[in-house]
Amino acid sequence: MEQAWPHPAVRVERRRVDEAESRRANGPDWDRYADEYQATHGTFLGDVGFVWGPEGLTEDDAGVLGDVTGLDVLEVGCGAGQCSRWVAGQGGRPIGLDLSHRQLQHSRRIDAETDVIVPVVQGTATHLPFAEGRFDVVFCSFGALQFISDLDQAVSETARVLRPGGRFAFSITHPTRWSFPDDPGEAGLVASQSYWDRTPYVEVDDSTGVVAYVEHHRTVGDWVRVLAGHGFALVDLVEPEWPEGHDRVWGGWSGTRGRFTPGTAIFVADLRSG
Ligand SMILES: C[S@@+](CC[C@H](N)C(=O)[O-])C[C@H]1O[C@@H](n2cnc3c(N)ncnc32)[C@H](O)[C@@H]1O
Repeated sequence: MEQAWPHPAVRVERRRVDEAESRRANGPDWDRYADEYQATHGTFLGDVGFVWGPEGLTEDDAGVLGDVTGLDVLEVGCGAGQCSRWVAGQGGRPIGLDLSHRQLQHSRRIDAETDVIVPVVQGTATHLPFAEGRFDVVFCSFGALQFISDLDQAVSETARVLRPGGRFAFSITHPTRWSFPDDPGEAGLVASQSYWDRTPYVEVDDSTGVVAYVEHHRTVGDWVRVLAGHGFALVDLVEPEWPEGHDRVWGGWSGTRGRFTPGTAIFVADLRSG
């Protein structure tokens, strides 16, 4: 939750924020953060690499997308397109979508550096600019879903652009983390707020009063319910363990916490046919 990069002085609030306000805040926030994000995490992610989260679980090891050879694949919240570039390397046909123009500029930079080119489009998860049934697979690696208010609309859009039987896989902060301070140290092991309180985490620019960053929380049950409500059948819920000897600290993720509590949840669901 709390942001570590240079940004306007903010005060933290917990209050309702609608989809328009979330998007107005998070687009510019990711534009501001993109350079720092890619400089800090780019090597760990790998230019042509697919990592599901700070634990370092790769799609090579997780295999939750299945064989993507010859498939049309949409990555929502693609950032610099590292995961989509991995999909291209496996013989898939990826397209990336992201809210942040600056993240997409990094994607173009890495395209040029690697010669593995991912077509990308600027847009939002709640209004996918694609025809019905355009994709076999839609995925997000920590992209978009926890930053949007209107999750129902985003999952509805995902179902619309997927072909029947298509796969939807996404990683998010593990919902149980909401109960704990976003602190990689021992303070992050002591529950301090209700798991069931869905009131969004909001940062407000102190000088202007404008919302500068928003994160939304849903319980595990909320996620299962929204997937089922749009015709998805849950196939798996992967909770990567913190690997022995993995000493990376990424925001609130660390070995100190990872040894005791899950930091990432990967939902895997298939769109029912007919
Ligand atoms: C944590 S980054 C993950 C990026 C990439 N998947 C990775 O692993 O590096 C989250 C991404 O979601 C994007 N994002 C946030 N809100 C979004 C929205 N409403 N629609 C699409 N993308 C969004 C951000 O711009 C950012 O690039």
